[in-house]
Amino acid sequence: MAKAVALYPGSFDPVTRGHLDIIRRISKTMEHVTVAVLDNPRKQAVFSIDERVEMLRRVTQAYENVTVDYYNGLLVDYAREKKISIIIKGLRAVSDFEFEFQMALVNRKLNPDIETMFMMTHSKYSYLSSSIVKEIASFGGDVRELVPPEAYDIIAAKFNLRFQ
Ligand code: PNS
Repeated sequence: MAKAVALYPGSFDPVTRGHLDIIRRISKTMEHVTVAVLDNPRKQAVFSIDERVEMLRRVTQAYENVTVDYYNGLLVDYAREKKISIIIKGLRAVSDFEFEFQMALVNRKLNPDIETMFMMTHSKYSYLSSSIVKEIASFGGDVRELVPPEAYDIIAAKFNLRFQ
C-alpha cells in the first residue's frame, strides 16, 4: 500500500513522552516523517534549538523513517522547501482544538496545497505538556516518567536534577 510523507512540527521545549507517542504512530502510518523544531513566537524557549534537535535525534534514533530538522520561519515555507504537503499536529484535548484549528486555517490561507491533519494523543499522555515538564523540573521535581529516557540527561543538566 502506498504511504505518504509527513511533517510533524513543534517547539519540543523539551520533547515529552506524548510527543514520542505521536512520532512513533506517525512513523508506522507514513513512509517518512520529518520532525521539525520551529520557534513558537508566543513562548520564550528554555532549551536552545541545538539542545531540542539533539534530544529529538536521541529519542528517534531507533526509527529508520524519522528525520529531525529545524527551521526559523513560517511552517508552510519550510514544508514547501522540503516538498512535504502533509502537516500532522497532535491533539490532547478539546482545549487544544481552538488554537490548532486557527493555525490550520492560517496555514491553508498561506499555502492551500498543504493539508493539516490531526492525531489524537494516547489518553495516558493527555495531561502532559512541555510546560508541565518545565514547571515540575524548575522546582526540582522528578520528570523521569514524563520524558523519554534518551532525553533525560539534557533535561536533568538544564535544571540540576538529582534523580538518576
Ligand atoms: O509545540 P508547539 O509550541 O505547539 O508548536 C507550534 C509551532 C512551532 C508549530 C507553531 O508556532 C509554528 O508553526 N511556528 C512557526 C511560525 C508559523 O508558521 N506560524 C503559523 C502562521 S502565523
